[in-house]
Amino acid sequence: MWTDTAITRRLGIAAPIIQGPFGGGLSSVKLAAAVSNTGGLGSYGANALDGQQIKDLVAALRKATDKPFAVNLWVNDQPVALPDKAAFAQFQAFFEPYYRELDIETPAQPVRFAPDYMMQIEAALEARPPVLSFVFGCPDSAIVEACRARGIVTIGTATTPDEARALEAAGIDAIVATGAEAGGHRPSFLKSAESSLTGTLALIPQVADAVKIPVIAAGGIADGRGIAAALILGAAAVQIGTAFLACDESGAPALHRDALFTYKATDTALTRAFSGRLVRAIRNRLFDELETQANALAPFPIQNWLSGTLRAAAIQQSRPELLSLQAGQAGTRLRYRSTAFLMIALMRETEAAVARLGAQRNA
Ligand SMILES: Cc1cc2nc3c(=O)[nH]c(=O)nc-3n(C[C@H](O)[C@H](O)[C@H](O)COP(=O)(O)O)c2cc1C
Repeated sequence: MWTDTAITRRLGIAAPIIQGPFGGGLSSVKLAAAVSNTGGLGSYGANALDGQQIKDLVAALRKATDKPFAVNLWVNDQPVALPDKAAFAQFQAFFEPYYRELDIETPAQPVRFAPDYMMQIEAALEARPPVLSFVFGCPDSAIVEACRARGIVTIGTATTPDEARALEAAGIDAIVATGAEAGGHRPSFLKSAESSLTGTLALIPQVADAVKIPVIAAGGIADGRGIAAALILGAAAVQIGTAFLACDESGAPALHRDALFTYKATDTALTRAFSGRLVRAIRNRLFDELETQANALAPFPIQNWLSGTLRAAAIQQSRPELLSLQAGQAGTRLRYRSTAFLMIALMRETEAAVARLGAQRNA
């Protein structure tokens, strides 16, 4: 049975389908719970939350589902060098025309650009989500050990076989192998993201052969054919992002979700312009205009914070051209706005794809 895999057994879930976490406020308890309640593993991207918010989040997820779920953190164990006033003003100058256009005040420099990672870890260990997934690096093996001692399953994210080996050596329980088709940031951490762009079809068997722990395929999967293919390539589950982001229950604003169903969603590309890290997003005006300044943009996470300062006003004023519209290459395959319908379709389609293969073999 295709649903009986190392991941479904380990996590105690019915289907090897994981809803990818979304950082930057695009996750929702409703979406994660809907996926977990229909047999998959719902995830919540908690990168922007502080310790208390993480504890509150885990409590809210437990209330919304009695099934396993995952909380996701961005590995951030290098101190961020804060810019001085003059450097910050220079970085911010790129955004001044947009502040004027949206008629908002120039925001003041924050005390920090991202929450404290170790405080997030401490809170997550205390809250004990069933699964803690990591992206953008390899968590310290002491953290992985602390998770294991508390019964928390750990998942790491790799874009190359070497990254997968590093995660396995740190004691991680399972690995998301993310192909270049995926929406969101390239989570590469050993080599540059630009030189870690293997596509899902080529990456999955490489990673499956490189490590003994189960592999979860991510990138460009949005229907049952993709799930069946990933399982055949050696994955024990899939992680789907864009197709879940498009559902009504997701935390993405309506103008982002709507854009995913338009022809524009077929025009995605990779850029560092939005955040300072390579990200796959729909090409729009902000994408193109920031790209022309690419050499002078602020580093991550400062650029991420700066582009985020336009968000609330752009959403309120219905200006999708001034938002980072992250999306993967599966844009043309999106059909459902209901998480439950999407889950039913994915299950049926995978069943049918696996049956077709069996029939071909016996013909
Ligand atoms: C808007 C958006 C935000 C994302 N944020 C995160 C994140 O915070 N952490 C993470 O591990 N993956 C993140 N991802 C990656 C997804 O969880 C998932 O692995 C990826 O979207 C799979 O590729 P697909 O979009 O082609 O389905 C994000 C993806 C998108 C589209």
